[in-house]
Amino acid sequence: MKRVLLAAFLLLAGCETRDVDQRPPTYADEVGVVLVDACAECHGPVAPEADYDVTSFYASIGCVTDGRAAVLPPDASAPVVAVLSRDDHAGLVEPGELALLTTWVTTGATDQGGAQHPPGFMDPRGESFHGWDLREDSWDLLYDPTLPGACGQCHEGSPTRPEGAGISTSIPDCTTCHDGPGGVLDCATCHGNGAQAFPPRDVCYFGDRAGEGGAHATHDTEGYDCVDCHGERDDQVGRGGLHGNGSVEVEFGEFAGGADASYDAATGACTVYCHTRGGTLETPRWVEDTGPLDCQSCHLSPPTDHFVGPCNLCHTEANADGTALSGGPLHLNGVVDFGDGSGGCGGCHGAGGDDAWPRTHAHDGHREPTVALQASCESCHPVPMELDDPGHMDGVVQIVLTGLAAARGVEPVYDDAANTCVVACHGEGLEGAAVPLPVWTAPEEVAGRCNACHGLPPAAPHPDFEGCASTLCHGGEVSHPPGGPEITEAGRTIHVDGMIDFGGAP
Ligand code: HEC
Ligand code: HEC
Ligand code: HEC
Ligand code: HEC
Ligand code: HEC
Ligand code: HEC
Ligand code: HEC
Ligand code: HEC
Ligand code: HEC
Ligand code: HEC
Repeated sequence: MKRVLLAAFLLLAGCETRDVDQRPPTYADEVGVVLVDACAECHGPVAPEADYDVTSFYASIGCVTDGRAAVLPPDASAPVVAVLSRDDHAGLVEPGELALLTTWVTTGATDQGGAQHPPGFMDPRGESFHGWDLREDSWDLLYDPTLPGACGQCHEGSPTRPEGAGISTSIPDCTTCHDGPGGVLDCATCHGNGAQAFPPRDVCYFGDRAGEGGAHATHDTEGYDCVDCHGERDDQVGRGGLHGNGSVEVEFGEFAGGADASYDAATGACTVYCHTRGGTLETPRWVEDTGPLDCQSCHLSPPTDHFVGPCNLCHTEANADGTALSGGPLHLNGVVDFGDGSGGCGGCHGAGGDDAWPRTHAHDGHREPTVALQASCESCHPVPMELDDPGHMDGVVQIVLTGLAAARGVEPVYDDAANTCVVACHGEGLEGAAVPLPVWTAPEEVAGRCNACHGLPPAAPHPDFEGCASTLCHGGEVSHPPGGPEITEAGRTIHVDGMIDFGGAP
């Protein structure tokens, strides 16, 4: 801080005795106009040639494509001067203008002619840059407006200003340049680049001080926040907390594993919930292993000794062979999700939640039958209580036909190859069925057909009488709308119940 004040004082004192013409040329006064007139056509802000833009001071001292600063070294070999004697740039400026540009570069390529601050106040490459002294003094001049030299004494937009401080239009507001949402204290001001709030900074200006970007950009793209890896930070920098104390602390939040997670500062290796799951790169190093990571990196895909079957049978977001994700909300959300993530039996087969009924083949007909009550899973499958019960999720669909299927002494059989059922419910042992062996994968053959499972009416000795709804026989169980007979709501409780009923529904 002392250095800034002293320099400022010397400049102020010098200014009173110095002739205006002896001042070094500045971008604001003369140089900017020349550069914009002669060069902006090709070196404007949009897609400039050689990545070099002359239309603002900060850009004009920036770097050309190969990373050399346009205004360094401070002599005629600096690219911005040297290029003007190249054939492709010859004659672009008058000799007087060339001299002006050369002097500008040799005197430090300064911004303004103001006397308040030293030359180079705007250039992070030099020690006079306005950030460095602030840093050295823990930003006191930002926060305590009573200190001599406190920025707020003269500048609008400083984080604190003395009470009743006036506004001088000749002094730039800090926020003319620090125009992010947080003004000077925007997160990108001290460790970022433009709107990017995390390291690295622009190497052109900050060189060795730009910092290591490591995997910051990747995690930012994936939506992780500073708190996930650094914990909460005070907005006020350098006020005694961890923020701006001169060292970088990595403190993992809940998501990364909290206290169970660790970071090895010596190697940069992270041991965290997100990565350390048995994959080929379980403890990635922050700077060396910035990705891209493949599906085998964090966990194997599938994990060792995993369930058989296509992944998307049990994980909605994975493709069948475990090489891609759909990008939905379940992956890396902190929970091992199966199915649709609902946690219910319907997550993998069924309509989600607790509805575990697959919507496949003849399941629909048994879930919402029009001639009987809903069949239970138990009548065709052993039903697991827990996911990992034996037989469940082993890659084989267990079929064990019981209950109604075995009524009337029938020995039920499911033929796995033909997908056919021999069961009492479909009329095994009854006469005249049009579909004696129903096929699981062809439910349309049975649906809506009264004669699919037994004759309509059954063969003699059954009376050959189509009015089965007669009150004497099956009244109440069957109704006779014009389209053909139907089983009534009440009738479903006794139709296909394993017993031949007479006399109507209860
Ligand atoms: C008609 C277009 C045009 C104009 C006008 C022009 N330049 Fe260029 N400039 C270029 C092109 C094209 C290149 C890149 C050449 C190359 O790839 O080497 C370039 C490159 C440069 C470079 C990089 C040199 C290096 O060493 O890599 C600088 C510095 C530069 N120009 C400065 C200026 C300045 C200063 C002016 C105005 C006095 C100016 N240019 C005017 C087209 C132009
Ligand atoms: C005594 C009044 C005063 C104080 C205190 C002051 N400034 Fe300035 N500042 C000015 C004036 C006047 C200018 C206009 C240019 C000039 O005269 O140097 C200026 C210009 C600037 C510029 C623009 C420089 C350029 O070349 O475009 C920056 C950056 C700046 N000040 C930052 C600061 C910071 C940071 C602090 C606190 C550490 C600070 N100033 C404290 C008066 C002050
Ligand atoms: C003419 C433009 C301009 C003005 C005005 C300006 N700054 Fe800056 N300031 C910059 C640039 C450029 C940087 C480099 C970092 C960046 O790109 O954001 C910077 C960086 C900083 C930093 C970060 C330094 C570090 O330690 O990394 C602080 C703090 C800062 N300015 C404070 C101020 C304050 C306070 C004011 C007003 C008193 C001010 N600046 C006015 C352009 C300006
Ligand atoms: C996924 C974890 C993670 C996230 C998210 C993250 N960081 Fe970091 N950050 C690290 C690690 C690891 C380091 C390296 C620490 C070391 O060993 O120096 C680091 C280093 C830093 C450094 C000092 C390194 C340098 O080169 O300057 C700063 C400053 C920093 N982070 C700021 C941020 C900010 C600001 C955010 C949010 C915008 C953020 N980080 C988000 C993990 C993270
Ligand atoms: C005035 C300068 C300044 C501003 C503004 C600033 N930081 Fe920092 N920050 C630093 C410095 C310096 C470090 C480097 C490590 C240290 O000294 O603590 C840092 C480091 C960090 C780190 C890494 C962990 C640590 O403390 O070392 C995080 C996270 C962080 N800043 C978040 C933020 C966020 C979020 C914002 C915006 C709300 C912000 N910073 C604004 C100066 C600043
Ligand atoms: C950065 C490490 C990482 C990478 C890379 C990664 N995963 Fe994961 N994956 C996890 C973590 C951590 C879990 C634990 C559950 C959670 O939080 O979602 C997980 C869980 C899963 C699950 C179980 C369902 C779930 O979401 O919980 C599947 C399936 C899966 N990953 C597939 C993939 C596929 C496919 C790829 C490649 C496109 C992939 N993973 C790449 C970290 C990773
Ligand atoms: C039959 C169902 C089923 C299939 C098929 C299946 N998974 Fe899983 N998966 C699960 C269940 C259940 C869990 C959670 C319990 C466990 O980890 O054992 C799980 C957990 C996971 C996890 C999280 C492991 C961790 O880090 O905790 C990953 C990763 C995963 N599966 C990937 C896959 C991939 C990749 C495939 C396809 C190649 C696949 N799964 C196929 C049922 C299945
Ligand atoms: C009427 C007998 C029957 C009923 C009732 C039944 N299933 Fe099935 N289920 C089958 C048959 C037959 C298959 C096909 C087996 C094959 O592929 O060989 C099957 C296949 C399955 C499959 C494998 C995937 C598929 O869609 O083919 C699952 C999962 C399943 N059933 C779950 C259930 C659940 C859960 C219930 C109860 C909510 C249920 N089933 C009710 C007979 C039935
Ligand atoms: C992680 C996905 C998943 C979840 C969750 C799940 N199942 Fe299954 N289930 C399957 C798969 C895959 C099959 C296919 C057959 C096999 O591999 O055993 C199956 C088959 C079945 C079958 C057919 C019989 C069998 O085991 O083959 C029934 C019944 C069944 N599940 C009931 C349930 C019930 C009840 C729940 C809830 C406790 C449930 N399922 C939760 C994946 C799941
Ligand atoms: C899925 C096969 C199946 C279909 C389709 C079917 N039935 Fe039946 N029906 C049976 C079986 C099996 C019985 C034997 C008794 C029992 O188990 O209820 C039966 C018995 C009956 C009886 C005797 C009363 C009773 O409940 O025992 C009547 C009447 C009857 N069915 C009418 C119909 C009519 C009308 C239709 C068309 C709307 C129809 N059935 C469709 C399987 C079927």
